[in-house]
Amino acid sequence: MNIQSMTKSELSQIIEQNRFIPSDELLKEARTVCDTCYGKNIFVRGLIEFTNYCKNNCYYCGIRAGNKNVHRYRLTEEEILSCCDEGYKLGFRTYVLQGGEDAYFTDEKICSVISKIKTRYPDCAVTLSIGEKSKESYKKYREAGADRYLLRHETANEMHYKRLHPQEMLLENRKQCLYTLRELGFQVGAGFMVGSPYQTSETLAEDLLFIKDLQPHMVGIGPFIPHCDSVFKDEKGGTLNLTLTMLALVRLMLPKVLLPSTTALGTIDPNGREKGFSAGANVVMPNLSPVSVRADYALYDNKICTGDEAAQCIECLKRRIENAGYIMDMGRGDSLMK
Ligand code: 5AD
Ligand code: FES
Repeated sequence: MNIQSMTKSELSQIIEQNRFIPSDELLKEARTVCDTCYGKNIFVRGLIEFTNYCKNNCYYCGIRAGNKNVHRYRLTEEEILSCCDEGYKLGFRTYVLQGGEDAYFTDEKICSVISKIKTRYPDCAVTLSIGEKSKESYKKYREAGADRYLLRHETANEMHYKRLHPQEMLLENRKQCLYTLRELGFQVGAGFMVGSPYQTSETLAEDLLFIKDLQPHMVGIGPFIPHCDSVFKDEKGGTLNLTLTMLALVRLMLPKVLLPSTTALGTIDPNGREKGFSAGANVVMPNLSPVSVRADYALYDNKICTGDEAAQCIECLKRRIENAGYIMDMGRGDSLMK
């Protein structure tokens, strides 16, 4: 299957054909391509959710500004560093600092924490996931030592983007941020939810074409899961099968990409993450945040946050990865994409 040279309508057709049941052939080909590039290794990243304050109001998101039912928290710099200390002892060599768009964390505060982590642990990669910022801010983060940046584009279709976000949020700006981050030398992660309201096979085909154009180092894909206090509380969630199809297609589109089997996938199916591996995923991001704040970082309902996916249970995770036929890799795990 030559995904890389397909047109939008050919891609939508493949998505349509594999919407309810991904063909064995598709999954197998995606896994083989992943094996050829990365072998059986599954890369592990420590996720630190350091603030759930956010100025935005994305309609799908549980911690959007307008949700008054969220208990808001921020970790202090010391708390973030002690998550890293704990992570380092457990063997983690990549930290992902994720948060809402929170003005309290000025560039100065972000840079300070980045450079402290890099000084203490020069062998570790630091990934940021803190939303849309100016080029100047991104440049400062890079100079402070940040290596990678995750910013899902959410959907590559203008109309669809407008239906998922309030009018002040612009797809054009989000895409521009991704190209800027690339240009500044970050390893960049884009991505989208599967099964978000108003999504169609055509908009998913556009996601694949956008990814082909951007050539990101990572692509984060998980099912949309409704959150009880969000605008989309009564909408249907994304399915396991369509998520597996999209993981496989992204793997075939960008053979060398790093592809997480996400927490959202593990939330909708007890073996979701293992199924993700067999569709070509090769990253997991267990939670390193303090246990006391985990429940407050609820982007969607029923998010798993205590079992095997917690960083503290790295042995359980290792067992699960090995039982599924893979090798857990705690190294930095840099992308093979240029
Ligand atoms: N269901 C699934 N994923 C979600 N995200 C936000 N809200 C939800 C939800 N309700 C995803 C978005 C965001 C990432 C951090 O989490 O794609 O970019
Ligand atoms: Fe900002 Fe969800 S709306 S993190």
